[in-house]
Amino acid sequence: MDRFQIQGGLPLQGQVRISGAKNAALPILCASLLTAEPLVIHNVPPLRDVGTMRKLLAGMGLQIEVDAQAIDGQDSLTLRADAVNKLEAPYELVKTMRASVLVLGPMLARFGEALVSLPGGCAIGQRPVDQHIRGLQAMGAQIDIDHGFIKAKASRLKGARITTDMVTVTGTENLMMAACLADGTTVIDNAACEPEVVDLANCLIAMGAKITGAGTDRITVVGVEKLHGADYTVMPDRIEAGTFLCAVMATGGQIFAQGARADQMGATLDKLRESGLQMEEQADGILASASSRPKSVNVRTAPYPGFATDMQAQIMAVNAIAQGTGLVVETIFENRFMHVQEMRRLGAQIDIDGHTAVVKGVEKLTGARVMATDLRASAGLVIAGLVADGVTDIDRIYHLDRGYDRMEEKLRSLGARVSRVKDGT
Ligand code: UD1
Repeated sequence: MDRFQIQGGLPLQGQVRISGAKNAALPILCASLLTAEPLVIHNVPPLRDVGTMRKLLAGMGLQIEVDAQAIDGQDSLTLRADAVNKLEAPYELVKTMRASVLVLGPMLARFGEALVSLPGGCAIGQRPVDQHIRGLQAMGAQIDIDHGFIKAKASRLKGARITTDMVTVTGTENLMMAACLADGTTVIDNAACEPEVVDLANCLIAMGAKITGAGTDRITVVGVEKLHGADYTVMPDRIEAGTFLCAVMATGGQIFAQGARADQMGATLDKLRESGLQMEEQADGILASASSRPKSVNVRTAPYPGFATDMQAQIMAVNAIAQGTGLVVETIFENRFMHVQEMRRLGAQIDIDGHTAVVKGVEKLTGARVMATDLRASAGLVIAGLVADGVTDIDRIYHLDRGYDRMEEKLRSLGARVSRVKDGT
């Protein structure tokens, strides 16, 4: 297992290109199941999670051609689902990546059946998929839970009115994809408004789907008989961009996040501005500079356009060295404070009271050996390591590799001293 070794204390300086969005690429890859024609997808980040999704789809019989690093270091993929022969998402893949459940809706809609392993709990909480199942049932699917698998069948799905109990991103995506090939009109209320949902909808529209309202809490899909191939470019990763902006806020310096789109990052940019980051929105990215110690900010995670739970650990790292005390309230996942005890090992003063972390900023952190526990927690620890005095070793960096494209290379290009150490060295 690789680890990161960071020699902290240097400001970040330079330009970094933001990769394609993981959380848009994964559902868009699954959309290829909805047509027998080739779907060409550009700006796909070369990440572990994308590799897992490719493995899952290839195992079902999809032909996948990869033009590696075709444009700006991102892959272009051509997926052909004209000879799908196995309608199954096995446990071994679903357990490593919950987003595997995104094959359920498309498989069921196009082939009339699907067998998808139930994702278990994960590090950050229980994360059930009951809303995905309920929505598909409302569309006429017959679903049984059998030996740990979701077993779904339907002759042709029927349009339905669905109101989800809570805002769910992949739930909305699964139902929206399924509705594309259903008979009649589906209305999804309480839909997730995340930009990644909009990106998926735009790809589906390019494939011939009739979708309106993506980006609002009511999505309407008029089912069609067939979708066709398309050529689509994935949006930039707003979480990766936000992570680099938090990093420069914490370390000081100036960076240009090339490709970052301010219009998709409102809540993150508001909090960073409040914290003291100076930002200039330019045509192809965001120029950000920090010349003083951050000021503490209060943050409450919420569905988009609220503050993203995927940015919570990173803003906590900024608060850890800020002036004053900041409250960080996590409302989406029940167990997403595992980075707190690791940040404490670096000298952070953080108390947890239920869903609230009280972060009392300290003047400096000191390097130590810490452990990454999940994807975004790892990013928070990297930021803390970049400001800490001395050396910080972050174990289990495979969590970070799930969702960040060559982060150590990007940080090094900004002047940070970060290396990847192989196990046993
Ligand atoms: C997606 C993102 C993830 C992000 C999360 C919240 C992808 C691939 N992943 O995850 O990075 O942290 O949104 O922004 O896009 N819930 C249920 N039943 C369901 C579905 C969800 O109870 O059927 C609950 C979850 O346990 C959680 C909340 O709803 O408490 C939101 O989860 P959801 O939006 O579904 O997260 P994901 O789509 O899995």
